[in-house]
Amino acid sequence: MSQPKTWSDRFESALHPAIARFNASIGFDIELIEYDLTGSIAHAKMLGHTGIIELQEVKQLIEGLEQIRREFRAGQFNPGVDAEDVHFAVERRLTELVGDAGKKLHTARSRNDQVGTDIRLYLRDKIEEIRGQLRQFQTVLLDLAHEHIETPIPGYTHLQRAQPLSLAHHLLAYFHMAQRDWERLGEIYARTNCSPLGSGALAGTTFPIDRHYSAEELGFSSIYANSLDGVSDRDFAIEFLCAASLIMVHLSRLSEETILWASKEFSFISLKDSCATGSSIMPQKKNPDVPELVRGKTGRVFGHLQALLVLMKGLPLAYNKDLQEDKEAIFDGVKTVRACVEAMTILLGEGIEFRCDRLNSAVNEDFSNATDVADYLAAKGVPFREAYNLVGKVVKTSLAAGKLLKDLTLEEWQQIHPAFEEDIYRAIAPQQVIAARNSYGGTGFDRVRQALEEAKALLQ
Ligand code: ARG
Repeated sequence: MSQPKTWSDRFESALHPAIARFNASIGFDIELIEYDLTGSIAHAKMLGHTGIIELQEVKQLIEGLEQIRREFRAGQFNPGVDAEDVHFAVERRLTELVGDAGKKLHTARSRNDQVGTDIRLYLRDKIEEIRGQLRQFQTVLLDLAHEHIETPIPGYTHLQRAQPLSLAHHLLAYFHMAQRDWERLGEIYARTNCSPLGSGALAGTTFPIDRHYSAEELGFSSIYANSLDGVSDRDFAIEFLCAASLIMVHLSRLSEETILWASKEFSFISLKDSCATGSSIMPQKKNPDVPELVRGKTGRVFGHLQALLVLMKGLPLAYNKDLQEDKEAIFDGVKTVRACVEAMTILLGEGIEFRCDRLNSAVNEDFSNATDVADYLAAKGVPFREAYNLVGKVVKTSLAAGKLLKDLTLEEWQQIHPAFEEDIYRAIAPQQVIAARNSYGGTGFDRVRQALEEAKALLQ
């Protein structure tokens, strides 16, 4: 199959069909079409505004571009490999629709500043969508935390029982990670919101364009000061994938915990049928596929970040075709993060139930109140390190005797140290152990109540 010729009359023959396929990005950059149309409309208006083309031609161009938008939305615009990319596909169709005016659209523009404009417009939208999703995720975390202020959960370091926590406190840790993600995306939005349009192929243009005009039309808050930088900068995309990777890190940690909690060994949560799956052979199984997939997809997003970093590192200025490879990384990064935030929001909102019975008995079955015994003595004037060593010995003998700290008699306590009194029992009860940690940022119930209010205020 021979291809129609795309290039100027410098070229005598069309591309080899396999090379045409290899070269084409239409298979994926069609994703940019709405932004390409919007960008072209702004460019056309600028050409009219500056008198570079006739206003009558601008009108024709806008009508043609809006017609293509309608055709695309109706599923009637499906360019093939012969169009090479979305930019050529649109220009070709435009010329079919409006004739010679269509051939003027590319005046004072290159596909290099055009594609840079398109991906910034695309990413701006997607960043806002993801920020909206993060807000929903945070709201679900807050709702869940509200229900579980006084629900205890074992707290771990090294995945060994450390000190018991308010479950709300544990959930709020994820709220704050998401808060940073939301803020970070806001900062990246600001740097993405800069217009390269008018940078031309690399050096600017001979036409009296007005870059501020087209930037304003597109809602950009600034324009690139240097045309070479304008066409070849992908920092914003790398920053986005970095932020996306961190979102995935946070979701993946929560996923890992959810998976552990759902295991028989922990049994801290049960999975609702709407968010769990079965096994094709083991009829008893209920699998946490949702958090497993989120954990698994995390690697993909890291991979896209790595791909873009490597893509950029050796590129000479300005545009190089390598840059066509940025798109699939960006698109898949966006899609993956969006899907994962949505799935985790549903999972937390309606897919799990905390097993308060299990959580309560878990915190009553361990030595995670040992620090509180040392704190008890330290508060009575025993130097902390001395108290720490003393309690270490108590834990050792209790373990050997198959006892917990709460099982020791008052005489036994007083043999360890005369400072122990009846109130030691209250001091080491899990609810008290949690309640007592009222330092700012701590897990004490009153502190957590306040933290919830502060978190709620962040969403306002
Ligand atoms: N499809 C190309 C890309 O995605 C558009 C820019 C092409 N520019 C060029 N000079 N060949 O990067």
